Amino acid sequence: MKIVVTRAIDEARLSPLEGHHLVVWPHQTQMPHDELVAELSGATGVVSHLTDRLDRETIVSAGDLRAVSQVAVGVDNIDLGVCTERRIPVGHTPDVLTETTADTAWALLASAVRRIPEGRDHVLAGAWGPWRPDLLLGGDLHDTTLGVVGLGRIGAAVARRAAGFAMKVLYAGPRRKPHLEAELRASYRPLENLVREADHIVVTVPLSESTRGLIGTPELEAMKPDATLVNVSRGPVVDTTALTEALDRGLLAGVALDVTDPEPLPADHPLLGHPNCLVIPHLGSASRRTRAAMVDLAISNMAEALGGRRMPACANPEVYG
Ligand code: DGY
Repeated sequence: MKIVVTRAIDEARLSPLEGHHLVVWPHQTQMPHDELVAELSGATGVVSHLTDRLDRETIVSAGDLRAVSQVAVGVDNIDLGVCTERRIPVGHTPDVLTETTADTAWALLASAVRRIPEGRDHVLAGAWGPWRPDLLLGGDLHDTTLGVVGLGRIGAAVARRAAGFAMKVLYAGPRRKPHLEAELRASYRPLENLVREADHIVVTVPLSESTRGLIGTPELEAMKPDATLVNVSRGPVVDTTALTEALDRGLLAGVALDVTDPEPLPADHPLLGHPNCLVIPHLGSASRRTRAAMVDLAISNMAEALGGRRMPACANPEVYG
C-alpha cells in the first residue's frame, strides 16, 4: 500500500510501516500542496503535519485514502467531517505532548510576567547601566489568579503546575469538569467572568468554528490592566487585529504567543513592535523526546489502521461506531 509521509522522518521510526510503499517528503519544510495532492493519488494512507491542507477537495480527490495520521494533537488543518463521512480514521497525538506543551505555556507565562525578553533586549542593546530599583518591574506569579481557557489535557496540565506558585485557578470551557475541579482546586467561570478576574490567562482550547476569535476586543478590554495573556493553542483563537489594537491602546501588561494568525508572523508585523509581546515560532511540543514520541504514536496509528485495527489515538472515533 502506498503511504505518503509529508516530512522527513528517521527511517528507524518508520519501521512499523515496513512492507508498504513509502513516499517520504525528504525535507523538514512543508510539502507543496500540489505535490501532496499529486502523491495522494493512489495512496492508502497519509502521515500528515499541521501545515498540510487536507481539506474536503484534497480528501475527495484522494479516492483510495483509508487512513490519515497526523503528527500533532490539533487537527484543524484536516476536514474531519469529510473523513468521517468516508469512514477514514484520523489519528493524532494527544497525551504524549501534554506535559511538554504545559511546560512551554509556563515558560511563556513566567517570561512575560517577569519581563525576561525585555531584560535580554536591554542587555543586548548595551543599555545596562548601574543597578536601579525601578528597572523593568514586572508582575508576580505567586499568590495571583490563573485563568485557563479550555481545561482539556493541556489546560489541566497547565493548571496542575499552578499549585507550585500558590495560585488560585479559574477555568472556562464549554462544560464544567467537576472531577478536575476537585483535583486541581479549580473553579469554573464563564469566559466573560474569567477574563475579568484572572491576573494571568492561558489559552489552550483547540481551534474550531466555535473557538475562532474567542479572545477578541470585548475579552481583551475586560482583562485587568496588568493582565498577562498566553496562547499555546492555535493562532486564530485570539483575534490578531483586536490584540494588536489592545496593545496599541496600552491594555494588558504582557502577551506571550506560541501560535499566531497568520503563522508564520511576518517580521514586520505590528505585534512584534510591542516589547511586551513575546512571540515564539510554534514550539509548544518542541522537545526532542516529545517530538520523537509524537512520531512514534503517529506511525503506530497508521500501522494499526493499515492492519485493519483501531487507531490507538483517533480524532474521529465515530468511524468505528
Ligand atoms: C499540536 O500538536 O497540535 C501542536 O500544535 C504541534 O505540536
